[in-house]
Amino acid sequence: MDNQALVMKNVCKDFKVLNRHEGLKGSIQDLFSRDYKTISAVKDVSLEVSRGEIIGYLGPNGAGKSTTIKMMTGVLEPTSGEILVNGKVPYKNRTENCENIGVVFGQRSQLWWSLPLVESFKLLRDIYMVPKNEYNDMIELYKSLVDIEPIINKPVRQMSLGQRTLSDILAAFLHNPAIVFLDEPTIGLDVSMKDKIRSLIKGLNKEKNTTVILTTHDMGDVDALCKRIVIIDKGTKIYDNDIEHLKSYFGSYRTLHMRLADDTWESMLIDEKETDIMDVIMRKQKETKIKDIRLEEISTEEVIKKIYEGDAA
Ligand SMILES: Nc1ncnc2c1ncn2[C@@H]1O[C@H](COP(=O)(O)OP(=O)(O)OP(=O)(O)O)[C@@H](O)[C@H]1O
Ligand SMILES: [Mg+2]
Repeated sequence: MDNQALVMKNVCKDFKVLNRHEGLKGSIQDLFSRDYKTISAVKDVSLEVSRGEIIGYLGPNGAGKSTTIKMMTGVLEPTSGEILVNGKVPYKNRTENCENIGVVFGQRSQLWWSLPLVESFKLLRDIYMVPKNEYNDMIELYKSLVDIEPIINKPVRQMSLGQRTLSDILAAFLHNPAIVFLDEPTIGLDVSMKDKIRSLIKGLNKEKNTTVILTTHDMGDVDALCKRIVIIDKGTKIYDNDIEHLKSYFGSYRTLHMRLADDTWESMLIDEKETDIMDVIMRKQKETKIKDIRLEEISTEEVIKKIYEGDAA
């Protein structure tokens, strides 16, 4: 078996959508209209992901991330190009493919709403024909990674958003799939729950060597989990390499934090090649007293923002 968990070759996805007309007359027109336009949501994306890698699949809103994940999971068929997940074409072998993948789509739970979590787990165990001892080992692993006591006997409908997300992630890994897709797993969660979710994902990846494809707008997720990131913009892949490599491209950037007279912190991003940091501090000091100073390398957040703004073309 080769070492690729996922291979995409020149994948494109077009959507045909109706050109809508305004007003009542327009909506009636639309009923009979053949006036379609084509949206290219994913354009010529190629990608190879090895076993055990965690990839951050990033891009601004509408970039085509969810569309890509839907093709990888077999929900959508590409307009052209090839996808192999664990050596199989996802939309052709949907049943087989399911055995090899786990999926968490943001706020939509895959679990049985009124069943206690443990009953959902048992159903999944039977559906995926997980041997009893492997199931038990997995539950033991879960217990070592996260406190499942408060959720294991609770129906999903009674859970908080954070508990539900946690449960969804545990459920996605339960049959020990080779690859797990997480579409915005920490959206809407508080800081401490985000931490819990991240260390759970990290622990599961490490213990089971599971490949993880993660889409997120939270750069904290990226910092905690991803060595390599792929960025798409308007459907096209614009970056695919280590996050550190990208940061070193912005090596002359520093974030300057200054604590002012009223104890508030002011932060700014400075390119040392263009601006003298001492000048900035002295100019500020003429306006107000500066009580403290901190200098940091450019953060992931700022690097990604610059890319989205088109600064690294
Ligand atoms: N079923 C569909 N029919 C028509 N257009 C669609 C469909 N699904 C997605 N699109 C369009 O494809 C483009 C990419 O959407 P997609 O949901 O993949 O973006 P995304 O990167 O996941 O964005 P976000 O960060 O907001 O979740 C958008 O222009 C969207 O409107
Ligand atoms: Mg999306």
